[in-house]
Formats: sequence, C-alpha cells, structure tokens
Amino acid sequence: MQASLEVTRSLLSDDGAEPTRVIARRLQELLDADAVEALGAGTPEAGARGQDDRPLMVLHLSRDGAELAVLVASRLPARPPFDSDDRDLAVAFVGEAGAALELADARASRERGALLADRDRIARDLHDHVMQRLFGAGLTVESIAAGLGTDPRARRLAAVVHEIDETIAQIRTSIFQLRGPLLAPVGGTRSRLLAVAAAAAAELGFDPALRFVGPIDAVVPSGLVDDLAAVLREALSNVAQHAGATSATVSVTATGSELVVLVDDDGAGLGATQRRSGLDNLRRRAEAHGGHLALDRPATAPGRDPAPGTRLRWTVPL
Ligand SMILES: Nc1ncnc2c1ncn2[C@@H]1O[C@H](COP(=O)(O)OP(=O)(O)OP(=O)(O)O)[C@@H](O)[C@H]1O
Ligand SMILES: [Mg+2]
Repeated sequence: MQASLEVTRSLLSDDGAEPTRVIARRLQELLDADAVEALGAGTPEAGARGQDDRPLMVLHLSRDGAELAVLVASRLPARPPFDSDDRDLAVAFVGEAGAALELADARASRERGALLADRDRIARDLHDHVMQRLFGAGLTVESIAAGLGTDPRARRLAAVVHEIDETIAQIRTSIFQLRGPLLAPVGGTRSRLLAVAAAAAAELGFDPALRFVGPIDAVVPSGLVDDLAAVLREALSNVAQHAGATSATVSVTATGSELVVLVDDDGAGLGATQRRSGLDNLRRRAEAHGGHLALDRPATAPGRDPAPGTRLRWTVPL
C-alpha cells in the first residue's frame, strides 16, 4: 500500500497547542481547509479524498473518551480510494498503536512512581535526620550562649543560632518542594494551603498539622482560594505571635454546603484583649462570601479537662 502514515500523540504534545488544533494543523498538510473543517472530531468514511484528489483515511485513537492520537493514511493523488480491506488493516494498526501507547504510558507512570517514592524518602530523611540534628545543634549553641551572660562571644553564638534557624527554614521549603507534587496537583487549593503552612512553620517553631476533609480541590471556587490562603496565614501568624503554643492543627473541611476552616492551638488562649486587626480582616473576608468568623476554645474530648488554647473557626457557604 502506497501510503503515508502519521500518528500524532495529539493530547500529549507539549507545545501547549489545543489538541484539536494540533490535529487540524497536521491534517492541513494533507487536506484543504474545507476538508479539515468537515472532518471535525469524527472519523470520516474510508472513501474520503483530500487535497490533490488524494485518497485519505483518518482514524482516531481514543481511550476512556479522551482522544490520544490520530492516524492519517493517504495515497498519492488520483490513486484508487481506500477500500474496506485497507480500512480493516488500518484499524488493526491503530489497535496495535494504541497498545504500544498504553504500554509506554504504563512504563512512564511506573518511572514517575519510582521517582516520587525516591523524593519522598529524601524529604523524610531531611526532615527526620538532617533537620532534627541541626535543631539539636542549635539548642546546644543557644544554651552555651545563655551561659556566657554578657560575654561578647554570646552575640557571635546568637548569630550562629540564627544561621542554623535560617538553614532549617530553607530545608523545610526544600521538603515542601520535594513533596509538593506528591501531595496535590500544582496550583490546587490544598497545595496552596500546604505552602502557607510550610512557610509559617519557621515562625511557629513547629510544623502545624494539616487535615483536609472532602474534595477541597474540586469544590473550592478559584475566587475563594486567595481568601483561604490569607485566613490560614493570619491564623498561624497569630498562633506564632500571641499563643505561645507548642502545636497547632488546621483542618479544612468541605461538606456539601459549606467550607469550614478550623485552626486550633494549645497556647495561652485569647485573654481579654479588645484589639482586633488581622482578625477583623478575616471576618470581613468571611462576610464577603456570606460566611462568618468565630473565636473560641478548641473542642474538648468528653471526660477531659477543658483544652487550653484557641480555636479559630472560619466558615463560608459553598
Ligand atoms: N491564637 C491566639 N492565641 C492567643 N491570642 C490570640 C490568638 N489570636 C489572636 N489573639 C489575640 O487577639 C488579638 C487580635 O488579633 P489580631 O490578629 O486581630 O491582631 P494582631 O495579631 O495583634 O495584629 P496584626 O494582625 O495586625 O498583626 C491579638 O493581639 C492577640 O492578643
Ligand atoms: Mg494578627
């Protein structure tokens, strides 16, 4: 069969072009503009002819409703049209091409899995070994400095402690970057909130625990993501500045009708302060979406003494 074959992995093309455009652009080499228009996304009949009266056959390769590739077969101009045998042959070829693509995809996803597992191991080692040892060294230097009183060497040691803290903060960021793709798709609401929490960890002196309940990435509208990030940033900054807490837990829950953000800490509690600044902003951000802000004590388990600390509750309807 005198034919030219082209398999385009249209959806996987990395030039950023729309898949259908990629198909159309490649087809343009064989067809005139009207014919491309007429092809649309469907499969034309085997007897079709393209530019220069070329016999033409186009087969679409799709999986789970997504178009993966298009196979275009053409003969030289004015040659006999493709018949049903040619068509069967091409269909069989497309089937094999599909199997090959599937195998390649499976191999790529295995390799990606191995890469991610490796990154996760490095992130764990950094967190559990490198960071903890640095932290321990920082504490030792700090206690030596405390024993030196007004000795000028104490200031130099304080600078060393600061350097160690900065290094720990950098490692934290690296851990987040290593783990980011594992935890959530880039640009998702969860990954944005994880980034905020990771950034707050240095100021807090501990990692806040994060819990997501419900399909957060799917249900949080994009107009709400900036507010959510601001709420978490301010709430954690308040914990760092005012609570004197040793731990904080953030939970973000999407129920069918509302989004609830809880930030609990085990610190000193709100006290009698009348001052409202960052918290007023959070209240306004909630009210702009028809929601509200409340401050309270964290929930107490039945039979336990009241928990210390503060619970910030930020709710908006979805
Ligand atoms: N988690 C918390 N634990 C203890 N006290 C808190 C906590 N969050 C807020 N507060 C108290 O509530 C006050 C008001 O907080 P708000 O965020 O409105 O202002 P701020 O943090 O003092 O100032 P700004 O937000 O402008 O930096 C704080 O000054 C602090 O006394
Ligand atoms: Mg504040």
